[in-house]
Amino acid sequence: MNLSCVILAAGEGTRMNSSLPKVLHTVCGIPMLQAVVSTAKKLKPDKIVIVTGEHKQRIKDTLQDDELVFALQKEPRGTGHALRCARPALKNTKGVIVVLNGDSPLVRSETIREFLHLHRRNMNSVSILSFAATNPDNYGRIVRDASGRLQGIVEQNDASSAQKEIREVNSGVYALQPDALHVLDEIRMNRPKGEYYLTDIVAAAMRKNLRTAAYCMGTEDEFMGVNTRRELYAASRLMKKRIIDKWIDRGIFFLDTDSVFIHPDVTIGEDTTLYPNVYLEGRTTIGRGSIIYPNVRIRNSEIGKKVVIMDSTVIEDSRIRDRASVGPFARLRPGSDVGSEARIGNFVELKKTVIGKGSKASHLSYLGDSTVGKDVNIGAGTITCNYDGMKKHATEIEDNVFIGSDTQLVAPVRIGRGAYVGAGSTITQDVPPLSLAVSRTNQRTIEGWALKRKFKVQSSKLKKKGAKGSGGPGVK
Ligand code: UD1
Ligand code: CA
Repeated sequence: MNLSCVILAAGEGTRMNSSLPKVLHTVCGIPMLQAVVSTAKKLKPDKIVIVTGEHKQRIKDTLQDDELVFALQKEPRGTGHALRCARPALKNTKGVIVVLNGDSPLVRSETIREFLHLHRRNMNSVSILSFAATNPDNYGRIVRDASGRLQGIVEQNDASSAQKEIREVNSGVYALQPDALHVLDEIRMNRPKGEYYLTDIVAAAMRKNLRTAAYCMGTEDEFMGVNTRRELYAASRLMKKRIIDKWIDRGIFFLDTDSVFIHPDVTIGEDTTLYPNVYLEGRTTIGRGSIIYPNVRIRNSEIGKKVVIMDSTVIEDSRIRDRASVGPFARLRPGSDVGSEARIGNFVELKKTVIGKGSKASHLSYLGDSTVGKDVNIGAGTITCNYDGMKKHATEIEDNVFIGSDTQLVAPVRIGRGAYVGAGSTITQDVPPLSLAVSRTNQRTIEGWALKRKFKVQSSKLKKKGAKGSGGPGVK
């Protein structure tokens, strides 16, 4: 089925009071425009054209999507003018053109599909998707005649007081046949605003005897347009609820849905439990039966099955394999890979570090640019000294190694299979397999030393007291 989408995203967004282009403001972690693009993609169009203005490059760089075609609207002269700017990109289009607003991030593809079905079945040239608004302010009102036939769309500022009472409003979703694109030239400038309104395409098409209709459908929430920061917040809450409801239905147990935030591209396996204040961001995936305790933020990471992430842990661009446990108070920086059944404990930081199956770093360690084999024990307070002030160096710890507590491994360095490193060592040379390396100084023990010291201290106190005693009574 032939279909093209145009997303209008060149508006100035003055009402946001922000230097960020309006359509790049985020709802649940993704720019509004990206949410609209994802919806458009679900319709499987041949082409998606985005109309942008002065922020074209910034928008392109943010979306980083080669499948998109960009059209430039040099000056924001209204939604009708914006669609006109997309025309060159739609030159050879034969099928339906779906127009979407870049500032309506909650529109659902299912609703658009239903709408397109009606548009095609009735062989319209122009169809409008309308909805019933509890508060129609700031939306274009759908004007119908006594028999219910569509007459036109009137914007808030141009509406009479009777028209302002109309609750059926324009969602900003349109379906057009390619022949209707010529009608755009018939749209007259809206004087007070100096803009060309796309909404006027209805009246213009009717003058040309083209078939037009408006279909009232969907739920009010999904057509919410974002023009202010308050509306952005409201849209974010709605999107958040939609995402959480989806995961509840798919078998996730939430202790408190209010405080959990999940980005739209996250996936979670059945029977996983999410405690309060959990943030799952970007392209994170979580396997079945995992438990994420409170105050955890996970970004762009792959968490396996039956993993336990304990309280107050941050994980970014990393992987945690099945049945491993991480935290509390752990930090996994990008490029970390924790093997199955491994344990990363409190106050442990990993960066670009692979931890093999069943290995443990249970307390107070920093492991950076390192590879740790299987069944390794990393003692408390182990530090990889991976940076010499100029460059980063690698540390390799092979299978079954035991690193004693408070050890510094000065990279580049390799600890061979099954070797032991004594506690408190500073290791600067490779340690061969199955050997012991200790670098601390030998212990010196002086028997009776404390007794002698005690005697010394007491006699010096007595001497001082004797000296002060000559001050007479009352002096302490
Ligand atoms: C628009 C509709 C209104 C509808 C509402 C739905 C018009 C005149 N009005 O109003 O009937 O109820 O959306 O949310 O169309 N844009 C451009 N270039 C421009 C101006 C706008 O690309 O010159 C883009 C904006 O980036 C935005 C979209 O078009 O994504 C809508 O523009 P906006 O100014 O927000 O229109 P509304 O006043 O919300
Ligand atoms: Ca808007």
